[in-house]
Parts: sequence; structure tokens; C-alpha cells
Amino acid sequence: MPGLLLGDVFPDFEAETTAGIIKLHEFLGDSWGILFSHPRDFTPVCTTELGRAARLCSKFSKRNVKMIALSIDCLEDHHAWSRDILAYNGEESVNCPLPFPIIADSKRELAVALGMLDPDERDKDGMPLTARCVFIIGPDKRLKLSLLYPATTGRNFSEILRVVDSLQLTANKQLATPADWQPGDSVMVPPNTSEEEAASLFHAGVYTKLLPSGKKYMRYTPQP
Ligand code: BEZ
Repeated sequence: MPGLLLGDVFPDFEAETTAGIIKLHEFLGDSWGILFSHPRDFTPVCTTELGRAARLCSKFSKRNVKMIALSIDCLEDHHAWSRDILAYNGEESVNCPLPFPIIADSKRELAVALGMLDPDERDKDGMPLTARCVFIIGPDKRLKLSLLYPATTGRNFSEILRVVDSLQLTANKQLATPADWQPGDSVMVPPNTSEEEAASLFHAGVYTKLLPSGKKYMRYTPQP
């Protein structure tokens, strides 16, 4: 059975978190959302990831993105681990909460429902750990992007910021971004936009790179 597909309404689950009980859709409000899962508390790669996510949180907030993490341990562990993460980040005070909630999915209920388990990585009792999923949810509560990494590969949070920028250019400006695009580079006009529409939408001008086929599909415009 397929899991969540792009465009699906993201399940409106209720969960216990380090910031209290959260209902996902209410928590997100009109914002974008990123739900990212972790195999286990007090593990090295996860600690680097949550540390990096905490350092980047203001950049996500500036883009109107709310972050929420998930790990399959209890709240007490999450609170103790949060202090380790802040210390790993070199924070002077480790007794404040991380700038995003962590879901306590100790029974793995959400991990199973959202297809997050990594069958190749197991705990000491032989139970599968969560993989490193990233779900990016739009203000319409629909899934805009998902990434799935095994437990042994830490994610690149700068890449996650980059894809948020790309998704928001599509949502707000009807634009696409080419391979290896970085903010400030030219962006692309998607194939389903007619020449007339492109001319009326992109006032900075549209440059078409000509190719042997003669088809005019490589259309660039400066990033608005
Ligand atoms: C880690 O976060 O370091 C980790 C967790 C589970 C399996 C492998 C690595």
C-alpha cells in the first residue's frame, strides 16, 4: 500500500510533545511545516541533526515554517536529551527548551502510521528504529515534499532550507528551480506556463536558451 503521496492532506494527528499535547493542523495554523523524525534519543548523528536544526530555526521561522521533530522515546528522555543538544551547540544555558517541540512516539504509533520505520536499523530488543524522514507540509496542510534517509546518514539542513525556498517560489510565484539552484540564481518557467502568461507574470523578462530540437522549453527569469 502506498504511504503518503505528494498532494495528500497530511494526517491531523494528536501527539504528546515537549511543548505539551499538540494537534498537528492547529499547531501549524497558516504556516508551512516540517516534521522530521529521528531514530532514537541520545544517539550521535541525531544529536548533530537536532543541534543544526535548532541553530537554523530562525531561518525557518523567517520563511514562515514551523518545525516539529519526532523520536521514539519518552518525554523525560526528550527533555534530558534536549539539554545535551544545547550543550553540544555550545549554549551557556541548557535548561531552556529547544526552539521546536519533539514528539514522544515511544509506542511507535506515528512512526508506523507515517511509514517511518527503517527495517535495517534495530534497537537492542530487535525493534526497528525510525528512519530520518522529512515531511514538508504547505499552509493548505498538503504534503509538498518528502525525503527519507536511513538512520546512518545525517541530513543536510541547508538543503532543507533550499528546498523550502524552491517550494515557496512555486507556491507564490509559479516558478521552478533548476538542478543545484541556490537563492539568487535564475529560476525557470515551468512547461505548463504559456509564453503569454510568462510575459505577463515575469516582468524582469524571460530568456529562452535555444537547443537543437528548436523547442523553446529552457526558459529562465531572474529570481523575483
Ligand atoms: C545516530 O543517530 O547516531 C544513529 C542512530 C541509529 C542508528 C545509527 C546511528
